[in-house]
Amino acid sequence: MSSVETLLGREAIKALFRPAAEAKGLPGRAYTDEAFMALENEKLFPRTWTAVGVAADIANPGDAMPASVAVVPLVLVRDRAGVVRAFVNMCRHRAMKVVTERCSGLQALHCPWHRWTYDLEGRLIATPNIGGVGEPSCAGFERGELGLKPVRVGVWLGTIFVNLDGKAPPLEQHVAPFVRYYADYHLGTLRHGGTRDLTVDANWKLFLESGIEDYHLPWTHPQFFTPRTNWSGRKVIDGTMVGTESRIPSALESEGGTDARRLPRFPAYAKNRDIGNFMAIVPNVGIAVTPDHVAVSIYQPIRADRTYYRKDLYFIGDAATDLALEPARQAVYRMWDEINDQDRDFMAPLQANHGARDRLGIANRFSPAWEGAVQRFQQLVVEGLRA
Ligand code: FES
Ligand SMILES: [Fe+2]
Repeated sequence: MSSVETLLGREAIKALFRPAAEAKGLPGRAYTDEAFMALENEKLFPRTWTAVGVAADIANPGDAMPASVAVVPLVLVRDRAGVVRAFVNMCRHRAMKVVTERCSGLQALHCPWHRWTYDLEGRLIATPNIGGVGEPSCAGFERGELGLKPVRVGVWLGTIFVNLDGKAPPLEQHVAPFVRYYADYHLGTLRHGGTRDLTVDANWKLFLESGIEDYHLPWTHPQFFTPRTNWSGRKVIDGTMVGTESRIPSALESEGGTDARRLPRFPAYAKNRDIGNFMAIVPNVGIAVTPDHVAVSIYQPIRADRTYYRKDLYFIGDAATDLALEPARQAVYRMWDEINDQDRDFMAPLQANHGARDRLGIANRFSPAWEGAVQRFQQLVVEGLRA
């Protein structure tokens, strides 16, 4: 496995760590080369907390779904006690995926190939016919050591994170910068209210970077701007968190204002913040906190130039399910669909040019006023690959 220094070159790494006005962004090959993706899968994603799914997808005991991080097949399970567990989705017999699709109400996990069966806590509990017809055991075969391989897992803000190598600091520590930043919000009152997903023809970093700067907003998302809009985005950088605190009055109220939306707001919002903060928790989560909902994005690389993206929306308390608020929630979904479509339009041409620019000797640059978070994100990726 090549090192990040070999793949990018020491000069390019040095240039990324210069002050923003002089700095150069990650080389194009960091977005296009499968070798770089392989290094991310080897070093970046396994050694930290990587988002892999959403707890609402496995809401009840006996729910399970396949997932993957860094090309490791996983199964996410809600066990009998209601605890979310993660296992390597690989039968201890001959490596079949034990769970191949999202399912619910399971008493146990049955491997579809030869029906080895695991309980919801991962223990191997049945090996039908292993000793011949009607013989569920045989001499010399010990079931006890053949449970599904567990993976370290945690749930925060409705999101399921895994730490593949088991050595990262606790998840609470990983998300602490965000928790500190929003200490005056009552995020515990949030309830899952809907999902959007799409596949993007670009590297996962390109799509994530498009969310953590406000520089592009007036031109890419003009629906939020009037000639008098007073707009700014302050960079926020703290440990694993990079993002912008936006000041765009009326930005997220384009569907007729809060009264028309009638969704309950965070009490802390009006007091000290304006609209539309977007923070990334490195590596692959983005969180937008708006006056009346929180949108959590997960960026999952499929390959170097393709990304699965999903956004889950969380509303305050009963606002997530109240039928009378369905039109208001629909307005929120439409707003995000429009934003995501606008950002996505840039991705395929951007990806194509990132494949060409190293050859042409063209480096990316940053606006120090707006893109400090993008630069820090790229630095964190390099630091994550180095260790
Ligand atoms: S591979 Fe799972 S039972 Fe054979
Ligand atoms: Fe955008």
